[in-house]
Amino acid sequence: MSFNLTKEQLNIKTRARDLASSIVATNAAEVDKTEQYPWDNVKALTEAGFVGMTIPREFGGPGCNFLEANLVVEEMAAYCGPTGRIAVEVNMGAISAVMHYGTDFQKRLAADLVLSGDKPAICITEPEAGSAASQMTTRADKQGDKYIINGKKHWITGGGVSRLHLIFARVFDENGIELGIGGFLAVRGEAEGLKLGAREPTMGLRGIPETELIFEDLEVAENMVLMPPSGFKRGFADLMNAYNSQRVGAGTVALGLAVGAYRNALEFAQEREQFGRPIAEFQGLQWMLADMSVQIEAARSLLHNAALSAGHNGSPFPDPTLAAQGKIFTSEMALKVTTDALQVFGARGYSRNFPMERLARDARMFTIGGGTAQILRTVVASRILGMKLPQTRDGFSQLAEETAAKKNLQAAE
Ligand code: FAD
Ligand code: COA
Repeated sequence: MSFNLTKEQLNIKTRARDLASSIVATNAAEVDKTEQYPWDNVKALTEAGFVGMTIPREFGGPGCNFLEANLVVEEMAAYCGPTGRIAVEVNMGAISAVMHYGTDFQKRLAADLVLSGDKPAICITEPEAGSAASQMTTRADKQGDKYIINGKKHWITGGGVSRLHLIFARVFDENGIELGIGGFLAVRGEAEGLKLGAREPTMGLRGIPETELIFEDLEVAENMVLMPPSGFKRGFADLMNAYNSQRVGAGTVALGLAVGAYRNALEFAQEREQFGRPIAEFQGLQWMLADMSVQIEAARSLLHNAALSAGHNGSPFPDPTLAAQGKIFTSEMALKVTTDALQVFGARGYSRNFPMERLARDARMFTIGGGTAQILRTVVASRILGMKLPQTRDGFSQLAEETAAKKNLQAAE
């Protein structure tokens, strides 16, 4: 049900569904099989105005909000997970960070690339810094009017395909003093020292490369530093705040995959007959289908709410708690719904000739990438308890000492 959407939003949804159910649906199995980036779908998204949707009008975009972009994401993902993910990355994450923190020069550069179909890459994770992203070691050293970046990232979505890169790195001044974590923009093909490493052989979402990226004396001019409002010192927090839009987007891809699986199961259950009657007449399956519909509606409400929180919470990005709650719930829901929907198909669900196993494989990712379901629970817990919850031993010990000292002081007063 979409009764709370405006006429324009319903129009976006309908147009997106038309596109998704035609070209995107036709390509989906092939994209999975060949593991090729779906350039035809990117072209179709670009022509339909579904890339750069959140880019403001002054930079050539339509100035849509995150909810509107997510309507497109859900429709794409219902037929093709990789295309859903592309719809996220051309509308959220790196592009929204640039549109809110960037200079006019950076906004124009990013807008031109994205509006012509480039899916930016966001480069945070390192081999030794996954969940503990703030422990990254990639460094950017100031040298005159530029920064020199050295380090290695992995699991970068779109490595070798994306042109615009937003690289998170530890920043050092000319005296080697650390200033914090910053964001650096680099364009593949123009920046020397941005090297492509190995591609991961992934379980699902195979149409998008996940690769290593190696920075070897990558030179980034000062005008390509994406400086968040509170500078390098709080750069990590500000960049992660922008990343909340991507978490809502990732949750929406999981939602779309669940929707696709559910729709297929609903149709199949009414067609397939056993014991002389449609399997949809068996209560065992009716309740599975009913549960799927409940889970999907609940997930969609959470994500729409999270998307709409942007701009209403003192930040242009979705609220961190709502984004985390939405992604936890939806990513876990999608595992259950895609598995149950596969079950409704019986052996056909297990066959690569039908889409169910692909949807289930694609859905498996979302409790991992973009902040695991465990880490996001810690984010939620920290915020609902109003407590810092450091995960390192040192951080925890320091907090315990500070808390004890505070208690002693209070007792002495
Ligand atoms: P680890 O951090 O090593 O975690 C291993 C396990 O330990 C997990 O179950 C985790 O939940 C658990 N764990 C760790 N710490 C805690 C804790 N404190 N409390 C409880 N449990 C904990 N990264 C990018 O920068 N850019 C991308 O474009 C990108 N795309 C990705 C695409 C895909 C398909 C995937 C799978 C990953 C992608 N990532 C990307 C990386 C992703 O963000 C990381 O995989 C994720 O943050 C987890 O890091 P890790 O894999 O190193 O797991
Ligand atoms: N939105 C807004 N602010 C955020 C944030 C988010 N999603 N994540 C972290 N921050 C802020 C924190 O509130 C904190 O600010 P404070 O000092 O005012 O309290 C600051 O950033 C540092 O966060 P903290 O949780 O203290 O950092 P940590 O060193 O313990 O690291 C994280 C934990 C943030 C790395 C971990 O929670 C996380 O998100 N890991 C997953 C990384 C990820 O999603 N990678 C995806 C790559 S595509």
